[in-house]
Amino acid sequence: MANPYILWTESLSVSFSGFLALDRVDFSVRRGELRVVIGPNGAGKTTLMELITGRVKPTAGKIYFDGDNITGKSPHVIASKYRVGRKFQGPNLFENMTVSDNLLLAAPNLNTVRAAFFRSTPSEALERADDVLSRIGLWEKRGRLACELSHGERQWLEIGMLIMQDPKLLILDEPTTGMTEEETYRTGRMIQELQDGRTVIVVEHDMNFVRQVAKTVTVFHMGHILAEGPLSEIENNPEVVRVYLKSERKGEKSRA
Ligand SMILES: Nc1ncnc2c1ncn2[C@@H]1O[C@H](COP(=O)(O)OP(=O)(O)OP(=O)(O)O)[C@@H](O)[C@H]1O
Ligand SMILES: [Mg+2]
Repeated sequence: MANPYILWTESLSVSFSGFLALDRVDFSVRRGELRVVIGPNGAGKTTLMELITGRVKPTAGKIYFDGDNITGKSPHVIASKYRVGRKFQGPNLFENMTVSDNLLLAAPNLNTVRAAFFRSTPSEALERADDVLSRIGLWEKRGRLACELSHGERQWLEIGMLIMQDPKLLILDEPTTGMTEEETYRTGRMIQELQDGRTVIVVEHDMNFVRQVAKTVTVFHMGHILAEGPLSEIENNPEVVRVYLKSERKGEKSRA
């Protein structure tokens, strides 16, 4: 039977100078799933994403992606060979280039000899960029410079740049930070539409956003998975409410 999981970890641990940021974590995500990861500050959520993308090496345990053991592989190999795309917190845009050109620059293998052999010939990249522009709601602004965009639009452009690479797994770590409620809602819609068969992991604190997009939620706490399941179950889990949701409810959208 085909393996339903695109990603799984086995007893994954990492310690930073003796501090166990992740402690024997078994985390798995089904192919095509949109998984939401929540949990208090310092729970290990970003650290897990750093491990999956190869930027931090585990102290122990294994990571499998698409059937291969990717533990210890370089960030470049994980991004390009395995097509794991991740949005970083800081700005990653070419400020003085247009929205369209930012997307085209993100297309894989564009303007290289390899382009002749792979799917991204320039015309395909152009078509893909047009498609992505409408998906991220920036078609009207395609000729604007990136530096002219609002905070929310910049985030969408970055998501679009990742989509240009046609990732098998898309990782978004707190994509709605700093966004207005309206932008946050639009981001939720966008992610649901972009998912379209691909696997997405979103780390978020904004519970309105989580309610909008989540099916299965994984809750991290102190380097462990505290709970996992449908959102309705998670929101009524007394342990999750105690360690996380109680404080989160008070501070809704205030942490931006
Ligand atoms: N490179 C590092 N060196 C030392 N400690 C680190 C490093 N990266 C993470 N940590 C520590 O590991 C713990 C988990 O951090 P992590 O960033 O994964 O938390 P998080 O769940 O993403 O929190 P937040 O919701 O605030 O983003 C924290 O105590 C953090 O200080
Ligand atoms: Mg984090």
